Amino acid sequence: MQRIAVFTSGGDAPGMNACIRAVVRTAIALGKEVYGIRRGYAGLIEEDLFRMEKHTVSNIIQLGGTILQSARSTEFLKPEGRRKAYEVLKKYGIEGIVAIGGDGTFRGARVFMEEYPDIAIVGIPGTIDNDLYGTDFTIGYDTAINTAMNAIDNIKDTANAHNRLFFIEVMGRDAGFIALRSAIATGAEAVLIPEEKTDMDELIRMLEYNYHHKKRASIVVVAEGDDAGGAFQIADQVKARCPQFDIRCTVLGHVQRGGRPTCMERVLASRLGMEGVRALLAGTKSVMVGEVHRQIVFTPFEQATKHHQKINPVLIEMVELLA
Ligand code: F6P
Repeated sequence: MQRIAVFTSGGDAPGMNACIRAVVRTAIALGKEVYGIRRGYAGLIEEDLFRMEKHTVSNIIQLGGTILQSARSTEFLKPEGRRKAYEVLKKYGIEGIVAIGGDGTFRGARVFMEEYPDIAIVGIPGTIDNDLYGTDFTIGYDTAINTAMNAIDNIKDTANAHNRLFFIEVMGRDAGFIALRSAIATGAEAVLIPEEKTDMDELIRMLEYNYHHKKRASIVVVAEGDDAGGAFQIADQVKARCPQFDIRCTVLGHVQRGGRPTCMERVLASRLGMEGVRALLAGTKSVMVGEVHRQIVFTPFEQATKHHQKINPVLIEMVELLA
């Protein structure tokens, strides 16, 4: 394999640039040529790619976002879209791809390789949600939880100043990992996540108990995909039953997706990028490269996309016990 490509796909995540840099520099160090594909599968179909050199990735390790940009392509879901993508790869003589993204990215890669087995794709987990099976942490998660933690710390100051109850919504459509760790790190009173059924009676019991025991400022961290609704919906339900509470809501939203990656993030992203290229050049394909207990682990796309990483029940217990 002489020529490879790299792209970022799905929701962007801080650390993706560090990973792109590592992919490009490792490939060049091993005597290979690298192309950067803009906007993931969408850019591939539209032949939006360019040759990357060592200097193309100078000064990006500290940047959030992704210099290759990202997209969720609907065209790639169709056979004609994938055919176009294959033709572009053939035209450029590209035989291998490092795909940085989440489970949608890997599902697409799997289907593509079944149809075009002469193209090898290796995946790198890039999503702030940390919901991929086969890695302890995904690229973007550490930065996102630190961003959420800092924002919640700020809100705690004003919550305490006014004796207010805050519902703070963090990202995670299907996963509560951001909510859980940011709740523990900020000493939140409660956390509501999609993986656990929300018991409104229990939540209200706890908040009322606090209220009557001189703890009037409380923080409830809500994952956006919680079964009881987002922060505003849950706040409405609580207000209807407890009009005495002075309630405010904050949705942190996309602020969690940007910003300078943390040190842990940059190191993880660089390692996964380097190992991804090595694996691809060694003939590995159709796997996601992850880090489990600090060791590099390859998980077949099929498994990485079928299973979700499980929430550690000890973390839930910590929120309840330490609040
Ligand atoms: O998958 C990452 C994620 O940030 C989710 O947590 C969130 O629900 C979603 O992306 C938001 O996607 P978009 O940027 O398309 O609104």
